[in-house]
Amino acid sequence: MHGDLNNALILPCMEGMNRLDWAREHMPVLNIINARFQEEKPFAGLKIGMALHVEAKTGILALTLRQGGAKVRLASCNPLSTDDSVVEALRSLGMEVFAKKGESNEEYYENLHNVLEMEPDIIIDDGGDLTTLLHTDYSHIPIMGGNEETTTGVLRLKVMEQKGVLRFPMFNVNDAQMKHFFDNRYGTGQSTLNGIMTATNLTIAGKTVVVAGYGWCGRGVAMRMRGMGADVIVTEIDPVKAIEARMDGFRVMQMIDAIREADMVVTVTGMKDVVREEHLRAAKDGIILANAGHFDNEISKEALNRMAKSKRTIRRFVEEFELGDKKVYLLGDGRLINLVAGQGHPAEIMDMSFAIQALTAEYIAKNHETLERKVYPVPEEIDLRVAELKLQSMGIEIDSLNEEQRRYLEEWREGT
Ligand code: ADE
Repeated sequence: MHGDLNNALILPCMEGMNRLDWAREHMPVLNIINARFQEEKPFAGLKIGMALHVEAKTGILALTLRQGGAKVRLASCNPLSTDDSVVEALRSLGMEVFAKKGESNEEYYENLHNVLEMEPDIIIDDGGDLTTLLHTDYSHIPIMGGNEETTTGVLRLKVMEQKGVLRFPMFNVNDAQMKHFFDNRYGTGQSTLNGIMTATNLTIAGKTVVVAGYGWCGRGVAMRMRGMGADVIVTEIDPVKAIEARMDGFRVMQMIDAIREADMVVTVTGMKDVVREEHLRAAKDGIILANAGHFDNEISKEALNRMAKSKRTIRRFVEEFELGDKKVYLLGDGRLINLVAGQGHPAEIMDMSFAIQALTAEYIAKNHETLERKVYPVPEEIDLRVAELKLQSMGIEIDSLNEEQRRYLEEWREGT
């Protein structure tokens, strides 16, 4: 009995430790930063509160910040994205982690509260829930500044800034070049397909797949779906992005028309009710719905539940809704499918995103006295530094301008 109990805790912990090791091996840029942090201790005496998807790559970021001298608390930014084995491993390393896969809404908020009870100096947020709490229940805590990881969170921050309610500086990590060009496009592209394929064990080839949203994430999903042999239709509300999708070779149409043809819809918009009752009525029998946007409101679960005559879990991560004239399959409860049914973005991708996070947190620690209550872009030198380190780690050398070429750049007369 005792042995069983030990195994129940030790085995996931060992699995989590192996996952941390594997991630670390594939995060060379973060390793270089980690080594410098160990020497310089930029966060000595500071507390960092994090709300991110709690899985192996995030663990490596948290350990890196702790290596830099910070006291760290970590909660999840999504109730279904946690890797419990990594939680056990991090706890065994003395990290304070508040997260469990499948936590209830109450537990989710309790965990965020636990992070904020520490009264952090710096926050690292993904999606904006921690930041929101710091403007409501915890508006008394002074904050030096923070980072926001994702598009949805940045949208919320910009509204707060415009309305004049943002009460501390926040850095828009999402829009750093070394974040969104790779994480949003190649990370979401690969991990979303991985999650969908794991959840369904069905082919992508030969399916008509509707990708809702052609931001950087949508571009990645559409590109990879095409690569796997899907016939991809894109839906958009932005005319420029719609033209871009068309010129990238995708069909573009309104959701109500697209869904009539769709075998699968993947939402990647950051907007609610992208698939709603009128679309569900027009959908084909057997349609598969998945979401890769931050919140679980892109596919209306309210409409699905209201219209359903019955429902059942037919596979892990797949819920079947019987609507009378058709069956509709919802993957991963409409939550980020790449983290619910997969393990998030590949380690080499999160290496870049989390290097930006680590260096921007260091920037806050060093410069907070001069920062205002604004949403700041990540300083260019941080983007450049991460790009140089990544190239180096990939063993790629690139050309540089010689003196004469540099002078040429500064000339304005033709032909000189
Ligand atoms: N792993 C950790 N954070 C992630 C994110 N925001 N998206 C995908 N995978 C992740």
